Amino acid sequence: MSNKKFNAIVTAVGMYVPDKILDNKYFEQIVETSDEWILTRTGIRERRILENGATSDLATLAAQDLIEKHNINKDEIDALIIATVTPDMFFPATATLVQYKLGLPNVWGFDLSAACSGFLFALQTGASLIESGRYKKVLVIGADKMSSIVDYTDRNTCILFGDAGSAFLLEPTEDYNLGLKNSILRIDGSGKDYLNMLGGGSLNPSTHETVDKRWHYIYQDGKAVFKVAVKGMADVSVEVMEMSGLKSEDVAYLVPHQANMRIIDATAERMGVSKDKVMINIDKYGNTTAATIPSCITEYYRAGKLKKGDNLILAAFGAGYTWGASHLVWAID
Ligand code: UT7
Repeated sequence: MSNKKFNAIVTAVGMYVPDKILDNKYFEQIVETSDEWILTRTGIRERRILENGATSDLATLAAQDLIEKHNINKDEIDALIIATVTPDMFFPATATLVQYKLGLPNVWGFDLSAACSGFLFALQTGASLIESGRYKKVLVIGADKMSSIVDYTDRNTCILFGDAGSAFLLEPTEDYNLGLKNSILRIDGSGKDYLNMLGGGSLNPSTHETVDKRWHYIYQDGKAVFKVAVKGMADVSVEVMEMSGLKSEDVAYLVPHQANMRIIDATAERMGVSKDKVMINIDKYGNTTAATIPSCITEYYRAGKLKKGDNLILAAFGAGYTWGASHLVWAID
């Protein structure tokens, strides 16, 4: 028996991507690569880059889009969670900066760090605030300015990432058939050596040496991460489908983290979900870390491809390692 007072439903969505586009041809000029390699190995055609501003701006603009399109009263938002690995600063939290930029008078909040799984972790955290009955309007945002930590001389990583923000509003319902049903979320720190940014924290405070060693940029052992990502995402996705009693034909869409088209295809295949039921925007934006999943859902919703009652399986894998899958039943008509 669940001791939830309510279920948390998504009642509004928003997103922001910057105007500046870097296409694959651009990378042919700065590192040894080709449009063909990038497209066939990753599925990425282009990505967006924020030229002026920070992650709080991506998050604020995504939230403003949500507030305007859905006519939300800002005074009623009572909690704000920002999933990001590119906070404006170590402290204060990006959530406080977004509160200030948006002018939210009655809110508390915090940043959540879980890399590419950040949005799933934030969605579950926000839903728990709603389910307890203590909060009525929780804004959950995934935003990352990945260009601020990408080494544009490293062909292994620079082609992969882009900047974006996307926001969901969670509210309570007593209809237990709608909203966030089940989540399976996991962390395993044995993955720390394969995907990280070594410099700037308390382990390796910033020095000339950390800069010289390029430790303020993303490092990734792509092959190692690839293998565990497919298995990690597929295993928990299948498990969450079983928890919810769903067969693959009951799933309207798989919403995978957008890191690599080949990881997405392999995950869908293991779940028995056909390609037409997989949300994709990696071709346009690359890997935007915490923003991939909500921005996919926002775009598909706005294109009229979602209806109330649709079963969505959200799945992610990221640095840590962190990973998880959630069953979300769409609640907007
Ligand atoms: O979002 C968080 C989780 N992250 C992920 O899920 C990412 C997981 N990993 C991946 O997506 C893939 O491993 C990558 C896209 C990063 C790399 O693809 P890959 O097929 O695993 O390539 P690889 O790393 O095995 O490299 C194969 C070759 C290497 O050359 P050699 O050693 O065979 O001569 C690389 O140096 O491809 C080379 N290579 C490139 N060549 C052209 C690596 N990057 C590039 C590039 N252009 N941009």
